[in-house]
Amino acid sequence: MSEIKNRYHPYQNNELGQYIQSLETRYNIKDEINFFSQLVNFSKNVDAPYHRWFKYREGFSHTLVSELIKRSEITSDEYIIDPFCGSGTTVLEAKKLGFSGLGIDINPMSTFTSLVKCRTYDDNEIQEIEQCLEEIKELYPEEIIEDETQEKYAICDKFFSSHNFQQLLKIRQVLNSLDTIGKISDLFLCGYLCIIEEVSDRKRDGNGLRKRTSRVTNVVNHYVEKIQSMLTDIKNKRLKNSIFSDIKLGNATDMTAICSELINAEVTPGAIIYSPPYPNSFDYFESYKMELYLGDFIENSSDLADLRKQAIHSFVRPGVNLKQTPKYINWMSQEIECAIPEKEERTGKKDIRTRKVPAMIIGYFADMEEVIKQSSQTLSEGKKCYIVVDQSAYLGKIVPTDLFLAEIAENYGFSVEEIIVCRRARTSPQQLKLYPYLNDLLRESIVVLKRLA
Ligand SMILES: C[S@@+](CC[C@H](N)C(=O)[O-])C[C@H]1O[C@@H](n2cnc3c(N)ncnc32)[C@H](O)[C@@H]1O
Repeated sequence: MSEIKNRYHPYQNNELGQYIQSLETRYNIKDEINFFSQLVNFSKNVDAPYHRWFKYREGFSHTLVSELIKRSEITSDEYIIDPFCGSGTTVLEAKKLGFSGLGIDINPMSTFTSLVKCRTYDDNEIQEIEQCLEEIKELYPEEIIEDETQEKYAICDKFFSSHNFQQLLKIRQVLNSLDTIGKISDLFLCGYLCIIEEVSDRKRDGNGLRKRTSRVTNVVNHYVEKIQSMLTDIKNKRLKNSIFSDIKLGNATDMTAICSELINAEVTPGAIIYSPPYPNSFDYFESYKMELYLGDFIENSSDLADLRKQAIHSFVRPGVNLKQTPKYINWMSQEIECAIPEKEERTGKKDIRTRKVPAMIIGYFADMEEVIKQSSQTLSEGKKCYIVVDQSAYLGKIVPTDLFLAEIAENYGFSVEEIIVCRRARTSPQQLKLYPYLNDLLRESIVVLKRLA
């Protein structure tokens, strides 16, 4: 109990602190750090066939998915749903293990790359990929031809050295000229998206893109090697065509409708596994904007803004629906609001960004409530839902996302089976310096829910 008190002591509002402590004691919180700590991040995917194609920093590992599939006791006539599929880890791993899957994501770059990763290719298609690759190898020494490609992607030139950018544009021209459409051209475009971060002078870091110099000097060779490694996976680890999988561009808050459109699938929902965005101010669209522009998913900043509007409120953005918020979410939001004047006094500056965090917290839990409601409508009795989530902190105040999501789920026909603690979560070095106690207190966990009758 004293450990729990220590964890939540920083709240000014006693009612909030006590409420959170009561949730902490109500649920079965189980430490499985030794087993899960390496599974909740992307590290195990970097060498795994297919999963390694696109380095998705925010993804979880395929071994986490295989473990949760095992624990879910799903059967072969059921499918797994991931409404925040990101790089497609869940659906791809399910397919590898012989289970059907449906992924949903709001980011068209994510759904495109996930879909390509989950596809199967027959011998003729493999031959066609090999032929196209030969064409690319032959074409690359040619000079870049002046055409509209230059102008279209000019918005991205600041992210690359001019040499690497010219080579990227050259590859793009070659891809556009390939005499192929559909699956094969999609595979080549997917490979192109997979190398963009490495050949750029930017690295995804914290909440966005940090400047650095790319180590890649020959972009074309790098691209050819990427396609070759993708081809190796396709040839050596054939995915079964008979296993149904699909990836949809859409909003997790429309999960029930998206699932009900799967009329051709002879499978029913068996489990939901996902890691949603966390309320930590991370903006996926800022982080993946190079790929969004260069993959032709967006053309300008207003397209980018339109995508942002549909995302879960995990970062500061307008459009928060303030109606009917549970009291503990309001308390949490007010708790952060009350801490802002102290920070502004200390720094002597207005913190416009942090002033928007209290509304973001309300928006986040309202969005996640809708996702949980939809999850409940989608699953039948006894089926499991696994939510992999980090706790966050603002101005030293812990937002216990796992506990709040568990509490919300109980209102929508779920029982909370357990909350599995997977590892210590981190916060920014600036916040840690001011509030060192956060170092030991934040956690990443899996909220395990079971649909009741
Ligand atoms: C933590 S990542 C998921 C990573 C995934 N588990 C993997 O292994 O690649 C969260 C994802 O949620 C997506 N997202 C954000 N808002 C969404 C929404 N409203 N509906 C569906 N997806 C959304 C983001 O684009 C991001 O890909």
